[in-house]
Amino acid sequence: MTHVLITGAAGMIGRKLTTRISVDGAIGKSAIDALTLVDVVASPDVTGFAGRVASSTADLASPGVAARLIAARPDVIFHLAGVVSAEAELDFDKGYDVNLDGTRALLEAIRAVGEGYRPRLVFASSIAVFGAPFPQAIADDFHLTPLTSYGTQKAICELLIADYARREFLDAVALRLPSIVVRPGLPNRAASGFFSGIIREPLAGMEALLPVDEDVLHWHASPRAAVGFLVHAATLEREALGTRVALTMPGVCCTVGEQIAALRRVAGDAVAARIRRAHDPLVERIVAGWPRRFDPRRALALGFGVEANFDDIIRVHIDDELNGVIAR
Ligand SMILES: NC(=O)c1ccc[n+]([C@@H]2O[C@H](COP(=O)([O-])OP(=O)(O)OC[C@H]3O[C@@H](n4cnc5c(N)ncnc54)[C@H](O)[C@@H]3O)[C@@H](O)[C@H]2O)c1
Repeated sequence: MTHVLITGAAGMIGRKLTTRISVDGAIGKSAIDALTLVDVVASPDVTGFAGRVASSTADLASPGVAARLIAARPDVIFHLAGVVSAEAELDFDKGYDVNLDGTRALLEAIRAVGEGYRPRLVFASSIAVFGAPFPQAIADDFHLTPLTSYGTQKAICELLIADYARREFLDAVALRLPSIVVRPGLPNRAASGFFSGIIREPLAGMEALLPVDEDVLHWHASPRAAVGFLVHAATLEREALGTRVALTMPGVCCTVGEQIAALRRVAGDAVAARIRRAHDPLVERIVAGWPRRFDPRRALALGFGVEANFDDIIRVHIDDELNGVIAR
């Protein structure tokens, strides 16, 4: 029997992960008997799950919160709580407080339990741990020289997690997630928001602004694929991973122009025509420093899978968020 803890359970990926594992009722071959959710905002209700659910609204970085969650000795911990890149850049203190101190509190709470407790921790890292200049394709062992506070916080957490794993306080996998598109819901203030906006808004009958040139190249996966990565990571054999516990996840590498061409193929010309070019020098500057293409061969060899192309990423959004209905 497995007890699962999800931090950041009310977030975009957290909600989808909660739904997936409560429907599956198992992680790999092990049935889930208890699910603990935590977030600073209320997590959604869990339906159709036979086991125990404990949901709390709390700040992971506050004293005592992590210890209380870990006292129940969850077997698998998905650590997704965090503030995203734009917020961590705008609010230096909050970024370090949540992304670094919150993670450290969690790791220390696990270590404090001591002998006989060694949970599997799956950490949501990011390709933002890498910084330009880049080689043609970035391998897992490319040096970590992040160019944002967010990327720095994720890189520090990767190192901490690897050390706690080496000391056998836990088993760990840190997944460097690609940009997850199409992000459902309202547009957010992330500089990467337009990658989702130019697909989501036109499919919903609304205009979308494109702030960058169409030759901008980036690395994407769907929210459904992100959940797949997390669940797969929870089942990996410790020996298969070795000492290098951080893995770059596979993604779909394409330009914005290719994204738009995929939208045209999947939804038609009228939908793709709802994208309006509106250059934004700030977003262009930020995006220019981002990694574009990876060589995720370790993750592929370990069985992580992603969509074959951007058309499939759009179809996932239409199926999972729009009940198959496009505003033509
Ligand atoms: N979405 C992406 O493209 C992407 C890419 C790479 C990495 N990630 C990482 O994956 C994780 C989940 O991403 P997401 O897109 O679901 O983000 P999200 O912003 O939708 O969810 C993060 C959640 O963490 C919660 N949170 C923030 N501070 C907290 C605290 N102190 N204590 C408890 N909960 C707190 C937020 O309320 C939010 O619900 C994050 O760590 C993010 O950095 C996401």
